[in-house]
Parts: sequence; C-alpha cells; structure tokens
Amino acid sequence: AQKAKVEDLLSQMTLEEKIGQMNLESPSIVGGFEVPFEELIEMMTDGRISQEEFQKILATSEQDFHEDDIRAGKVGAMMVNDPRKNNELQKIAVEESRLGIPLIVGFDVIHGFRSVYPIAIAEAGSFDENLFERTAKMAAKEARAYGINWTFAPMIDVARDSRWGRVSEGPGEDPYLGSCFARKKIQGLQNNQESVEDYVAACVKHYVAYGACESGRDYNTTSMSISQLHNVYLPTFKAAVEEGAATAMASFNDLNGVPCTVNEYTLRQVLKDGYGLDGFVVSDANGIKECVAHGIAEDEKDAGRQAVNAGLDMDMGTNIYSKNLEQLIKEGKVSMDTVDEAVRRILSVKVWLGLFENPYVPDEVIEQYEKALPEEHVATTLEAAKKSIVLLKNEKNILPLNRNLKISLVGTLAAEKAEVCGAWAMAFNQADCVSVLEGLQNSGADVKYYPCGGPEGAINEEEIEQACLEGDVIIAVVGETAGMSGEASSKADTTLPGEQRQLLEKLLEFRKPLVTVLMNGRPLALGWEAEHLPVIVEGWHLGIQAGNALASVLFGETNPSAKLSASFPSVTGQCPIYYNHPSTGRPGSKSKFTSRYLDAPFDALYPFGYGLSYTTYEYENLHVEEKAEELEVTVQVKNTGDREGIEIVQLYMQDVTASLVRPVKELKGFARVELKPGQEEIVVLHLAKQDMGFYNNQAEYVLEDGKFRIYAGGNSRDCLCEEVNVKF
Ligand code: IFM
Repeated sequence: AQKAKVEDLLSQMTLEEKIGQMNLESPSIVGGFEVPFEELIEMMTDGRISQEEFQKILATSEQDFHEDDIRAGKVGAMMVNDPRKNNELQKIAVEESRLGIPLIVGFDVIHGFRSVYPIAIAEAGSFDENLFERTAKMAAKEARAYGINWTFAPMIDVARDSRWGRVSEGPGEDPYLGSCFARKKIQGLQNNQESVEDYVAACVKHYVAYGACESGRDYNTTSMSISQLHNVYLPTFKAAVEEGAATAMASFNDLNGVPCTVNEYTLRQVLKDGYGLDGFVVSDANGIKECVAHGIAEDEKDAGRQAVNAGLDMDMGTNIYSKNLEQLIKEGKVSMDTVDEAVRRILSVKVWLGLFENPYVPDEVIEQYEKALPEEHVATTLEAAKKSIVLLKNEKNILPLNRNLKISLVGTLAAEKAEVCGAWAMAFNQADCVSVLEGLQNSGADVKYYPCGGPEGAINEEEIEQACLEGDVIIAVVGETAGMSGEASSKADTTLPGEQRQLLEKLLEFRKPLVTVLMNGRPLALGWEAEHLPVIVEGWHLGIQAGNALASVLFGETNPSAKLSASFPSVTGQCPIYYNHPSTGRPGSKSKFTSRYLDAPFDALYPFGYGLSYTTYEYENLHVEEKAEELEVTVQVKNTGDREGIEIVQLYMQDVTASLVRPVKELKGFARVELKPGQEEIVVLHLAKQDMGFYNNQAEYVLEDGKFRIYAGGNSRDCLCEEVNVKF
C-alpha cells in the first residue's frame, strides 16, 4: 500500500513539484544578518556565537520560512525546530499545496534534543548497547514532539585523528564498536518506538570517510585503498543500512579525488545498490555548490548534474536542483528516470513516517516538554553520563573521596552549565544543565569554588593559592569549551588549551591531594598530565546531568566502568593513533630502526578500551573452541578488589597471515559483566567465522584459512592470547 501511494503521487506530479521534493530549505534570516541558517547553526556549534545569541538572533530577526514556495510545491523538506512553526508550515504544505504532500522536517538531534546526553565518543565508551538504543529513543520522542521527523544522526564516522574536532560527534576509532553503536541508534530512532508518532527517520552521516580527512583538518581531502574504505570506514554505514536506516548524508570531503557529494561509486554502487538503502541521500549543507570549489564542476549547474546522476537525491541549502534540474532534463543531461527515482525515495520515507496521516504535533504534546523534562528522561541522561566517565589514573586510591573533606573546586569549566553539553546541542534549556559545582553541592559536599583559570584567558595565582590553602582536597576541572570540538574545530595542538597546564603545575606545588577532571570533546595529548597528576577522570561533555554524574563517581556511589572508545596519545604528533593499525615490518620497539619516534612513545598513552575502576579485575584461563560456524571464546574474570563493579570484557582477533597486511588486533566482541568483590565468572564470547574475513582491494569479502590470535582482556593492550588455526 505504501508503494502504491508513492506511485500514485508520482504519477500526478509536475516536474516542478518533483524537483520541489528534492529541495531542503532552512529559514533564511532576512535583513541585517546576512548568513544562511546553516551557517548560523555552525557559528553556534563552533562557539563563534553562544546558544543565547543564536536564540536571540532567531527571535529578533525577520525570518523567511519560504511559505510561498511550500505552497507552490517547491519545497520538500525544512530545517526548523520550533514546534508551532513546524505545524504552521506543515499546514501550508498539507492544506494549501496542490498535492498536499507533507514536509519532512530535519534537524541536528545528535546527542539528545532537550535531554542532552553524552557526546557520542563518550557514550560509545559505555559499551552499553541497550543504553545506545534508549538514549536514541528518548531523543526521537522529544524531537518528534517538536515537529522534527528526521534527524541528521547518527554520526557514525570512524575517526582516528583527534586533531579533527568532529571526533567528538562519533563513536570513536573502531569499526566494530561503531557498527554496534550505529545499529542500536537506528533501532532507537526508527524501529523500536511504541508508536509511529514517536519515530524519526535517521540520517547516517557523513557518508563517507569524512573521519579520515588528511591531517585531521576539517573538510580536507581523504585518500585510501578500497580495502581500507571497506574494512574501516564503510562498516558502520553498512550496519546502519542493514538495520533499516532511512536516509544518509553525503560528506563534504573528496574520496580518492571524487567529492562524496558526486561520488557514483559510494552513493549508487555501494550504498544504494550494494547495501540496499531504500530511502534517500541528502547533501551536507552547501555540499553541491562546493563541488565547484573542489574544481570538479564547471559551475553550479554542472555540480547539480553530477550530484543527481551520482545518486544524491536531495539538495541541502543551495537551490541548485531547483534552479537547474528542469534545464538539465531538457538538455538530456539528466534523465526523468533519475529524478523519479530520487522523488520516489523521498516520498517513500514520508509515507513510512506516517506524515500523510499525522502531519501535525498536537498542542498537548508540544506543551509537555515546555514545562519540565520528564523524570525518566532526566534519569536516562544521568545514567548515560555515569556510564560514560572513564577513570584514567587513580594513584594511591585518592578516589573515591571521603565526604567529610573540604573541597576546593577549581577551573572556570567547573561552574559552567551550558558547556557540559558539548558540540551540537541546540535545544537544551540552560536551567536543566547541572555544572560540576552544582553536582557537588547537590550531593551535600563541603565545596568552595575558585575560578582560577580555564581553557581561555589567564590564570589567577591568588585564587590558586587561596584554593590550595583552604581545601583538604583540590578538584580541578580542566579541558575544552563546547566550541573547541565539533565542526570546523580542528586543532594542531591537542594538549590542554590556554594556561591550564600552568594552572595544574601551580596546584601541584601546594602538595594537596589533587583530582583532575577533564571536560573535553576529543582525546587530548596527556603525556605531561599522566606523568605528573595523581588522579585523572575523563569527564568528556556528558550532557545535562554531567555535574551529578561526576559527583556520584567522585564520591564512589558510582564505580566508574567506561572504557575509551578512542586512543589517547602522549603528544599530538602521534596523531593519527589507533590500536588496530596494520602490522608493520618493523614493529615499534626500543631499538632504533623500528616504527617509532625519537622524541615520543610509539604506542598510545591510554589505548582504546582502557579505563580503570575502584576495584581490580584479573583475567585467567582463556580458552578458544572451534565449532562449525564460530569460535567459542571463554575467559575467567575475577573481581579482585573490595567493591562491586562492572567490567567491560573485550574480545580481539588478529589474522596472523593473510593476503593483505591486517591489523595487529581487531575488536570482535565485548560483554559488560557485573561482579561482586571476590566474584569470578566465566565469560563466553562468540566469534562467528563469517566475521573473521576482510575486504580485499576488489571490494570482495574474503575468508582465508590459517593462523589467528584470539585475545581477551580489559583493554586493547593488556590481553591474554591464544593461537588457533581456522578453516572456513
Ligand atoms: O548535519 C549537519 C552536518 O553534520 C554539518 N553541516 C550542517 C548539517 C546540517 O546542520
């Protein structure tokens, strides 16, 4: 019936109406403020303007919502997050346009909408698939209540270079963990809602290899072999499409010389014909136009021709399709079938979303989030934040803290409310955000706050001295503002910004117990900190409940369990750094002529999968049994400390001899295991033989008999190992 509805509409549409469906508009700011809406959003996410300034600009400027074009059937999609405005615009589309086709309304709901939860790089470190799904489900519900039925998420770019600011938005460096994350996000956003009125269409982005931008510089070129593309950068997208992802966004970068916006191989051959994406592909903002700057298209019209022929169905923000497609068809440069295919895909998503039956959001639904956030949503953001905190160092068990201690809380980030949300959080209410200071106060701590210094500006030595003299223990919150990661926030130096190193040095001089809490959006280069600081807690940008979650960990109500989803280097020059690198002929070692640096370690400071707990775990008795279709891997894990905890047991594999150079280790499974003090458990993990292969440079998936090493452990570095011979 859904197909018939699409075909029926298509048969009635004029060419202009068809092209209209391929056009995504966002409100243009008219008068004084001459930037397009997308750029305004980008300005806010990269910190050029604050969220308040953004809201003020929107509230005070006149905006053109393209009502006349919607009425004329020239707009298929909008980018608006005001629920009443969305109802108004839908009404025009449904009741005043000739065919009454509702708008698909897209927005960047990346890590929560009103209820902001941790940035993806942090949440992925929980290794909690059930959580991945529940946070997505919550975000979808809230977005839908605001008339948003399409989200530009999940962002599932594998990224191995923390100079790139957008590492914050994705699930880290590993394709396996990233694929689990992608699947669960699609289930939560789209598939597992109780009612059709709660789900949104996902948009997997940025397709593809955007995370491999050269030198970690945003929008930069990417080049790689076909095997690298298929083994590392495509799997998250394949997983998402297999799960039913409705749409995808083409990335800004060129891949091996062809911009992803006009890349017929990746869009048509791989994504649509290969993986079977049923829905549509949208460009990134301005993406089609940028093909002229890439030097691949003569002019905008030529860029439009290349994009639509490559399988790019919807234009975000340039009007190039609206202005040129009719002429391109007349000239025979684009076929009617190509346009029909794009429109069919767009309409099929609208029909699947139930927009024809339910185009509006009822007032009572809009009002529910305007009053206060539902308790269960706040609880979910708190749970997610607690599960995403990584304990990197805890010398002499300084943590957890005794509640009777007098705490001096230091660092401007400690009192920041909005900063806890991180990049791409655009709909939260500042009043819902809990700073670290508030979190400590809420937990009844005896705490006094001294700003002392932060990521921007100079340190205040007097405040530092006061803080150190008065407190029994110092908690220093240091790191990055929200605008220092995310889009257009690449960095050539990933050490703590500003004078924060000096701040820590000064604090150390007073020889008081010092707890450092990091708040950041990328793996930082922490060589100095790891050497000198006794305690390091990775607190990322944890979302609205950050302060409460951190207080709970600092006082030991929550035993930290998260692991790193991306490796941390000692110095920036080690970037890109990732655990699953191909084997070199001269593995790094102490001897000179090996794959190493003269002035830095060759391996990660804190590797992928690393994270401590207030208890300790011991691994023993790794055993691998070959069955017909899988390897059954068992390992004994014991809680050897005196606290209950959750250990994330990781399974890795190495294909020792293959026809292509393979990674030294590859994550192939994991389990979250809850253990009481002294308790031991035999953890069983399954590695399907089908998953032991790889893509060669002809993009063929091959399974090669031979020797494999199977590893199990609590991080990607420290593992037990057993060798097996496998026949497929
Ligand atoms: O979804 C984003 C994308 O990640 C970066 N450019 C703008 C898009 C829409 O806001």
